[in-house]
Amino acid sequence: MFDIITFGSATQDVFLKSRSFKVRKEKKFFTGKGLCLSLGSKIPVEEIEFLSGGGGTNTAFTFKNQGFKVAYCGMVGEDIIGRQIKEQLKEKGISTDFLFFSKRHHTNYSVILSSPNERTVLAYRGASEDLQKKSIPWEKLKAKWFYLAPLSGRLVKIFEPILRFARKNHIKIAVNPGNSQLSLPQKRLKRLLNFIDVLILNQEEASLATRLPYHKEREIFKTLDEWVEGIVVMTKGPLGVVVSDGNYLYESGVLKAKKVVDRTGCGDAFGSGFVTGLIKRPNDIEYAIQFGSANAVSCLQRFGAKNGLLNRNESIWRFGRVKIKRHPL
Ligand SMILES: Nc1ncnc2c1ncn2[C@@H]1O[C@H](COP(=O)(O)OP(=O)(O)OP(=O)(O)O)[C@@H](O)[C@H]1O
Ligand SMILES: [Mg+2]
Repeated sequence: MFDIITFGSATQDVFLKSRSFKVRKEKKFFTGKGLCLSLGSKIPVEEIEFLSGGGGTNTAFTFKNQGFKVAYCGMVGEDIIGRQIKEQLKEKGISTDFLFFSKRHHTNYSVILSSPNERTVLAYRGASEDLQKKSIPWEKLKAKWFYLAPLSGRLVKIFEPILRFARKNHIKIAVNPGNSQLSLPQKRLKRLLNFIDVLILNQEEASLATRLPYHKEREIFKTLDEWVEGIVVMTKGPLGVVVSDGNYLYESGVLKAKKVVDRTGCGDAFGSGFVTGLIKRPNDIEYAIQFGSANAVSCLQRFGAKNGLLNRNESIWRFGRVKIKRHPL
C-alpha cells in the first residue's frame, strides 16, 4: 500500500539564461509583453541547466522528501530522457511500477527562457498525454491518497476514471487541475469536483472554472466552495492564498523569499506541501498552509522545480510563519 500515488506529467526542463533576451511591451502578445531576440542572429547563452520537471514527478518528490511511500503513475517516451526519468525516480526511492513507455511520442520537453523576474516556457507535451485508461493496472493502485497534478491535453480523458476509482476504493483525492480539465463543460466539471477532498487552483484557473471574471475574487471563491464539499485552496502567487474547509475561511500572505531565483514548480511545491501538512496533521488547515508556503518559498530560491523542495530534516519554520486570518463562514 502506498501512502500516495501522483499523476500528471514527467518532463525534461532545459533552462537557458541569456543577457540577450530582451523584453518589449507589445499589445499583440497575450501578456502585453514579448521576449525578443534578434532575428537571424546566433544568440549567446550564458547558463544552461538540465533538470527534471513535470507536475506528476515534482509532487512525487515533495512527498518522498517528507518520508512517505510514493509511486508516480505516468508515461514517458522510449528515449534517453524517458530512461533518465525512470532512473532518477528509482534513485530517489519513488516506485516506477506505474511508469510506462510510449511508442508514439517523445518524452515531454520544456525549454525555459529565463530573463530577470520572469520566465517564458516553450512546452512540448508528448508522451505524458499517451497514458490511457487501459494502460493503467487499476487493481495494483493501492494507496491512501492520490495527488493529481494538471492532466493536460489528451490526458484529461483519465481524469474521470481516476476520480471514480478513488471514490470507489476510499482513496483520498487532491487535485490541482490544469486548463484542459477546467475547460470541460461546466455541468460535468461541477459533478467531478464533487468527488474531490482537496481542490487546489490559482486565481486564473479558479476564474476559468467558474466562468467568472478574474477580479471577482470573493464570488469566484464562494462559487467553488459551494461546488466542492472538501477543502478549496486558491493560490494568488505573491499575494498568498485563500482556503475554505467548509467551516472557516483562511486568508494568508506569503513567506518572504530572500531571492527569487526561479518560480518553475512553485505551484506544485505549494500544492504538494499543503497536502503533506494535511496528511501529517489531519484537519489542521493552518499547518497545511504553513507547510505549503514553506515548500513553495524554498522552491523559489533554487533553480528547477525539484531542487529547492524541503527535506524531512529541514524545519518548515526556517522561513518564518505566514500570518493567517481565520473567519467563520
Ligand atoms: N514571490 C513569492 N514569494 C513567496 N511565495 C510565493 C511567491 N509566489 C508564489 N508563492 C507561493 O506559492 C503559492 C503558489 O503560487 P502560484 O499562485 O503562483 O501558483 P501557480 O500559479 O499554480 O504556479 P505554477 O505556475 O507553478 O503552476 C502561493 O500561494 C504562495 O504561497
Ligand atoms: Mg499551477
